[in-house]
Amino acid sequence: MGLAATSPFLRAAAGDRPDRVPVWFMRQAGRVLPEYRALRATTAMLDSCRNADMVTEITLQPVRRFRPDAAIFFSDIVLPLAAVGVEVDIVAGVGPVVAHPVRARADLDVLRPLQPDDVPYVSTAVGSLVRELGATPLIGFAGAPFTLASYLIEGGPSRNHTRTKALMYSEPELWHDLLGRLADITAGFLRVQVDAGADAVQLFDSWAGALSEDDYLRYVAPHSRRVLSAFADDGIPRIHFGVNTGQLLGAMGEVGADVVGVDWRVPLDEAVTRIGPGRSVQGNLDPAAVFAPSDVLAAKVRDVCRRGAAAPGHIFNFGHGVLPESDPGVLAHIVDLVHQF
Ligand code: CP3
Repeated sequence: MGLAATSPFLRAAAGDRPDRVPVWFMRQAGRVLPEYRALRATTAMLDSCRNADMVTEITLQPVRRFRPDAAIFFSDIVLPLAAVGVEVDIVAGVGPVVAHPVRARADLDVLRPLQPDDVPYVSTAVGSLVRELGATPLIGFAGAPFTLASYLIEGGPSRNHTRTKALMYSEPELWHDLLGRLADITAGFLRVQVDAGADAVQLFDSWAGALSEDDYLRYVAPHSRRVLSAFADDGIPRIHFGVNTGQLLGAMGEVGADVVGVDWRVPLDEAVTRIGPGRSVQGNLDPAAVFAPSDVLAAKVRDVCRRGAAAPGHIFNFGHGVLPESDPGVLAHIVDLVHQF
């Protein structure tokens, strides 16, 4: 039997109810693990993403520790931008920093489509991971056009996305050219992962929640739809995730997602009503719940599982990435609690 028939994660993504609720954590690899910090000690973030052996090892570290129902490929949403020639670095404690932010049409020239040759280490790492992971599916991922555009236009992380929205409202033609190019890069990066054997993809539109539904539909949805529809015939689940997206859950499903990721602000049963029929959900424990007393944490985990039962399929996760201060032992305990539910 293929993985699609046996993996609880793939079955829930397909709208089925496997005999246990599957669970994995966004940002499960990384700073919470001492073995990650040791491996990364002398290697810059993006350099580690370009080393297939390191990518393989870092992706496997949380799988060994937590026994989740899926692995997520270790990389970063800005890696494909760097791979086509954008000058971008990840600064510890800050995030992605872009040397020449996008301000005018000429700044788009560097944004050419991504070719498999641009990221040979990605195909190599996905190939070895699929062999090593066996029955645990591998999730490939990319950043969505809006979230990438925000980093490119602001030059780094941003609270209000003011320059991004200013460009979106004042130069719609330039905006759509930019997002179209980013959609090509994103789809190209996902294509490399899927062709090398990734079992699912997740599109991270982390900052889309800054938009009203109207603006999302007009300025962003066509581009995210183009990315997701490029994988409509691959027979793999497409997960679409953003933070603070209560007002966008329906739209984020409609652009071509099989699974909608929900942050902790909207309970999953309410999210299911907003998303509409036929799509599974992923989420949505508050990442800060790991700091709660164990009885409070256990009650919250059970509440998420109960509400998730309102959807055709439910994949347990946090509502956003694992917080760096989390105790790995508590993460392992959450996997057990979900599996016992
Ligand atoms: O385990 C996993 O989830 C896989 C790896 C992964 C990373 N980044 C590794 C990483 C994934 C899926 C991402 C996606 C990503 N990167 C997103 C979307 C998800 C989200 O959190 O909303 C975003 C917005 C980024 C951009 C980014 N990269 C930020 C904001 C940061 C944090 C900067 C900091 O130091 O606080 C990064 C760096 C980054 N990406 C780290 C890791 C493990 C930390 C780098 C380190 O270990 O020093």
